[in-house]
Amino acid sequence: MPTMQAATYRRVGGPEVVQIERLPIPTPGAHEVLVRVHASTVSVADHRARSRDIPKGLRLLSSFALGVFRPRTPVLGMDAAGVVSAVGEKVTRFQPGDEIIAMLGGKFGGHAEYALIPEDGAITAKPASMTFDEAVTLVFGGITARGFLNQVTIKPGDTVLVNGASGAVGTAMVQLAKQLGADVTGVCSAANAELVTSLGADRVIDYTTVDFLAEGTTYDVVVDCVGNAGFDRAAASVKPGGALLLVICDLTGLLLASTRSRRSGKLVTANVGPYKAEDLGFLVELAESGQYRAVIDGTYELGDIVSAHRYVDTGRKRGNVVLRLPA
Ligand SMILES: NC(=O)c1ccc[n+]([C@@H]2O[C@H](COP(=O)([O-])OP(=O)(O)OC[C@H]3O[C@@H](n4cnc5c(N)ncnc54)[C@H](OP(=O)(O)O)[C@@H]3O)[C@@H](O)[C@H]2O)c1
Repeated sequence: MPTMQAATYRRVGGPEVVQIERLPIPTPGAHEVLVRVHASTVSVADHRARSRDIPKGLRLLSSFALGVFRPRTPVLGMDAAGVVSAVGEKVTRFQPGDEIIAMLGGKFGGHAEYALIPEDGAITAKPASMTFDEAVTLVFGGITARGFLNQVTIKPGDTVLVNGASGAVGTAMVQLAKQLGADVTGVCSAANAELVTSLGADRVIDYTTVDFLAEGTTYDVVVDCVGNAGFDRAAASVKPGGALLLVICDLTGLLLASTRSRRSGKLVTANVGPYKAEDLGFLVELAESGQYRAVIDGTYELGDIVSAHRYVDTGRKRGNVVLRLPA
């Protein structure tokens, strides 16, 4: 049986639980595409799954998805950029040789030389103008930011505040909000101010010296990518009829989102919505036309996967950490 290299975790723990193993190369089902992965990212989702660093109240719920006693899916990696190597007999949209990017989401699997992706999943053609390393950075943060922004209407001149503007989701959110014509404020540390400004932010607030919630400024849309600007603290900073997008929140925030929406007259959502190929296609178009750029903090080879996890665990990464699979 042909095998592939994969980074796996067989138990929950620190970066050192991740190891390189040989696993059988999967065979595509009738509606599946087998992709030879060239690049993935090590994201905060990998960190959360591996370490079970899960927001308050969501641990039990997430353990059903991630595995109660041991990891359900040993290969992490929510995204992939690569080349289709085989397709199932019913697949019509892709053929061997196609260069693609894909969001694997909660099924993970990107940290291996091959990954299976359903043909009707979030998979689209890779931008020709980008390398695999660059193209994969469109996926995790980009599809998340787009999923949340799909739920609001942003008109030119509307004000958007992005809390956590220098992470994978934040750097995507700043670029997408700017592309919609918004006036964007990014909340980040002074060290990341230049990066966030270069992505289009009109103003940056250094969270180490200023609490943006205490400033008294209100915004049409507030996006929390950090987890410290939930409804109780941030609703007053959202204009009447505006929106609070909770990219990360605890169980209470999740359960109360729709009630709080109804009562406040402000959209409060903690739901990214379904991952869609058309959203990836939109990001590809933006990248092709020079309106969206890859933000890569560092690139690691598969053999250095433990170091990549160790770095992501710091919570300090800027944009994306790329994992390169062997050529
Ligand atoms: N709902 C969903 O579907 C979904 C999808 C993806 C991610 N998420 C969640 O969204 C969150 C963000 O994800 P991500 O991938 O963007 O994370 P990330 O890339 O790991 O974010 C790291 C960045 O956060 C910044 N940061 C840390 N503390 C901060 C603070 N107090 N204020 C402002 N910035 C701060 C860091 O900058 P400094 O070094 O300057 O502090 C760093 O640049 C995570 O909690 C993740 O679990 C949710």
